[in-house]
Amino acid sequence: LKIFTANANPGLAQEIAEYLGLNLGAAKVTRFSDGEISIAIDESVRGADVFVIQPTCHPVNENIMELLIMIDALRRASARRITAVIPYYGYARQERKTRARDPISAKLVANLITAAGARRIVAMDLHASAIQGFFDIPFDHLPGVPILAEYYANKKLDDVVVVSPDLGGVTRARSLAERLGAEIAIIDKRRPAPNVAEIMNIIGNVKGKNVIMTDDIIDTAGTITQGAEALKERGAKEIFACCTHPVLSGPAIERLEKSVISEVVVTNTIPLPPEKQIPKIKCLSVA
Ligand code: R5P
Repeated sequence: LKIFTANANPGLAQEIAEYLGLNLGAAKVTRFSDGEISIAIDESVRGADVFVIQPTCHPVNENIMELLIMIDALRRASARRITAVIPYYGYARQERKTRARDPISAKLVANLITAAGARRIVAMDLHASAIQGFFDIPFDHLPGVPILAEYYANKKLDDVVVVSPDLGGVTRARSLAERLGAEIAIIDKRRPAPNVAEIMNIIGNVKGKNVIMTDDIIDTAGTITQGAEALKERGAKEIFACCTHPVLSGPAIERLEKSVISEVVVTNTIPLPPEKQIPKIKCLSVA
């Protein structure tokens, strides 16, 4: 078994390798002068069961191309089986046509990864779990909930309600609530435009309760911070938030800092650069 990584999240790859008592495979992922990706695999992989760890997070297109080219290099070097470990699957929110003439980019990315030579996929908390079916190869879809639930169980909060910030996240919220023995509530969110969230209603009782909002992704943090405001207006006591994938783009950090949320728990499927490591954010490892 061999583990390789490109540039998306070498810290996570290193942690996984240490957990397994292995060294990371020797490879160099650099750029030619014109920006093209150069990959050199510096050890034999002939006949090996190879895992490539590469979330397709920001910069998403660079990270996808690094993954594809690394898989291609390993396949041409006679690796026996290549598993693409994609803790965060970029383009997952473009998984269906919502308007006429929309692309289905999540499917296009799946086609590219399969065509490059991956024979198995491991991913965490896909925005839509049906994306598994975009691949005709084995797919392990891992949830972040057990890691988040363990954290909150150790926190020993009383009178907790787990809140899904939109209708699409109800199954995930229920799973966290069941592990914590808590009730759930649901926010009825609308998206009048991409990256714009509008809270319509709250289904369930949050008055006087400790609230844990849970989502797959926090991107611009509009969904989670507006949801938190609405929960506060309805009498929630303390508000916590968690997600598996801290995309944290654009105004996210500023919004989280100013928000009524006490603590935001995320995982390291996506690395947090220093400017995003604010005291309010706690990062758990999925290694
Ligand atoms: C969308 O439905 C996802 O589950 C997240 O709620 C969304 O991506 C969060 O985006 P933002 O933080 O930009 O509101």
